Amino acid sequence: MAASLLGLLTLLLVHPLVLFAWQDYKDYRVYELKPHGIEDRNLIRKLSREKPLWDFLGTYRNSNDSSLRVMIPPEEVDSSVKTFSSHHLEHRMLIADLAPFVQAQRAENIKRKEIIQMPHIDVLGAFYTHSEINEYLDSLPERFPKQVQVKQFGWSYERRPLKVLTISNGDGKRNKPVILIDGTVHAREWISPSMALYIIQQLLDNYSENQELLQDYDWVIMPVVNADGYEYTHTDSRYWRKTRRPTNNPECVGTDINRNFGYEWGHDEGSSSDPCEDTYRGERPFDQPESQVLRDVLLNYRGRLNFYLSLHSYGNYFLLPWGYTREFPERYQDMMSVADAGGMAIVHSTNGIYSWGSTYHVLYPTSGDTADFALGVVNATVAMTMELPAAGFQGFDPWVSHIERLVTESWVGVRAMAAEVIRSYPA
Ligand SMILES: *[C@@H]1O[C@H](CO)[C@@H](O)[C@H](O)[C@H]1NC(C)=O
Ligand SMILES: *[C@@H]1O[C@H](CO)[C@@H](O)[C@H](O)[C@H]1NC(C)=O
Ligand SMILES: *[C@@H]1O[C@H](CO)[C@@H](O)[C@H](O)[C@H]1NC(C)=O
Ligand SMILES: [Zn+2]
Repeated sequence: MAASLLGLLTLLLVHPLVLFAWQDYKDYRVYELKPHGIEDRNLIRKLSREKPLWDFLGTYRNSNDSSLRVMIPPEEVDSSVKTFSSHHLEHRMLIADLAPFVQAQRAENIKRKEIIQMPHIDVLGAFYTHSEINEYLDSLPERFPKQVQVKQFGWSYERRPLKVLTISNGDGKRNKPVILIDGTVHAREWISPSMALYIIQQLLDNYSENQELLQDYDWVIMPVVNADGYEYTHTDSRYWRKTRRPTNNPECVGTDINRNFGYEWGHDEGSSSDPCEDTYRGERPFDQPESQVLRDVLLNYRGRLNFYLSLHSYGNYFLLPWGYTREFPERYQDMMSVADAGGMAIVHSTNGIYSWGSTYHVLYPTSGDTADFALGVVNATVAMTMELPAAGFQGFDPWVSHIERLVTESWVGVRAMAAEVIRSYPA
């Protein structure tokens, strides 16, 4: 209570104008674009650079004929449609006005929360805020004194405590190899923290079914990296992606943590130097406190880090290094075997179709992402970004009723990949 009051006071002092400025997304439109051939794809890449107000959603595959969604604010609707038409880019309106959907989902989540008795969260029953997730994490040592440890590795820009959970089987053996999972690097990808919480519950509450995953390995899980951005998606703007630290452009706030890491930072076209863009890399590598914290978590497990998995949405991908170059890393085939295990397990269980390969080849160049750092600097044995499936109106916005399907399917993949890592790299 004291802490949240203090937070509120800080907000009042720092942001007197934006407090309670809930963005309703009135008359925001969502279009589906269907590029055919290289010219259309180049046009989309160009538009995503030149039109910071057009929000190209999800993780779009830079290959032939795959469609993607874009969100357009009302004042840009006419010009965007003119642009699509004049370039003969196939487009289709999916949603004429996002506002009622955003409102309905917000109301649903608030209603669902009324029956939750914190800190006993029901992962499948609602989406939780950063402070609720911390409250849950802090409750775990009492229930599982031998198995879990909660550590705070630092603070976000707005001074939210960034917490990491370590799970073991409680046998007291030290320095086991580690599987490290992070979530919510991008604020609006709400299925990501839900997935991290679901993994925690499977390892603790469903231990008897998963004990082989903890026999010789420890798990380290950080459900929310971008705490400020995530909180902002609950209080102000549902589709916010970046951090909340101001930039050198007074009009534009926030940096993309997943372009801010210090391995080949800023390399070529893999990130943006424009603070108004969604892939803004920051002024320097690690100039965001949240990136520093995740970096320190990764470095803390250097030498033991056999599997680094970053949970994102959406697009159904397992993305391996490298993002910054067309070259493949030395252990690429070994990492592919792990992705194979995940992709096969999911298709057998639900017919869910994933694609996998290096980020550069499967998607497009990215530089300064967390998986490249985990491999290039921390020398993780396997480093991967997982893009969970789309759901909801926009892809990032599943209804509460979608959570169970998304997390149970994804757990089949994560579990199979962890088992493959444990089999391939015995302690
Ligand atoms: C993509 O389209 C180009 C021509 O536009 C074609 O040469 C190429 O084979 C296609 N690639 C795939 C993977 O379908
Ligand atoms: C426990 O794990 C098993 C194996 O993954 C699964 O079939 C079962 O549904 C899980 N139980 C719960 C309560 O999640
Ligand atoms: C990196 O890890 C691989 C195996 O995961 C190991 O063979 C190699 O020696 C490590 N390299 C360094 C520089 O630690
Ligand atoms: Zn993401």
